[in-house]
Amino acid sequence: MSVETLKIIDKDAFRQPLIEYTKKAFNQLHPINTPKILDIGCGTGLPTLELARMSGGKVIGVDIDQNSLDILEEKIEKMGLKKQVETSNCSLFDLPFPDKSFDIIWSEGSIFIIGFKRGLKEWKPLLKDQGFLVVHDQYQDHAKKLETIRKCGYKLLNSFLIKHQTWKLNFYLPFENHLKKLKEKYKNNSEIQQAIKKEIDEISAFEEDVESLSSIFYLMQKL
Ligand SMILES: C[S@@+](CC[C@H](N)C(=O)[O-])C[C@H]1O[C@@H](n2cnc3c(N)ncnc32)[C@H](O)[C@@H]1O
Repeated sequence: MSVETLKIIDKDAFRQPLIEYTKKAFNQLHPINTPKILDIGCGTGLPTLELARMSGGKVIGVDIDQNSLDILEEKIEKMGLKKQVETSNCSLFDLPFPDKSFDIIWSEGSIFIIGFKRGLKEWKPLLKDQGFLVVHDQYQDHAKKLETIRKCGYKLLNSFLIKHQTWKLNFYLPFENHLKKLKEKYKNNSEIQQAIKKEIDEISAFEEDVESLSSIFYLMQKL
């Protein structure tokens, strides 16, 4: 999706109400003075910027979608956060950082790309001793994930659910209404129509299995 189309679709505006859960997760971690944080699959960076604001530390947001990173860069500039936040175009399969680089690794909506177990294993060396890994993932295979957390050498500090009703009310319904209006407004723009279709298809897939809309935060500490 081009930067222009991403801005018109403006998913961030609808994602914003859910940022309270990013805050809730961060506030449950033991405080660290100016931590170094890696945000994996940061996209256009709503959690990234909130983490910078809350922590007062340094945040690196990584993603493979340069257009999303360009939008995040614009926000960093506008918010005067250049000293605190940087972006890096790299894959979560191959993160180019030395071992023990980060106090906190953050992953919202991205660990499913590599798989829960592989993400936990491969990202662990990047954490400092007793560092934190916070993962926001679909609420699926919960018991198996708890076992994976233990087996991969993390302590589970807490977990909390965001129920599908919350997602539906606070994100999917308002976003779907917005998409319907855009569909009419940009009926002659094929790129925007394609982007709208992609989003609507994603929502429809979730609606077929409404339980899969629920998500969960896992707050872990490296042992
Ligand atoms: C659901 S979005 C989550 C964005 C952001 N973390 C949030 O919560 O708003 C998933 C992000 O993962 C990124 N992504 C997909 N494959 C990736 C990969 N191999 N390496 C890094 N990021 C990837 C996508 O570009 C997208 O921005």
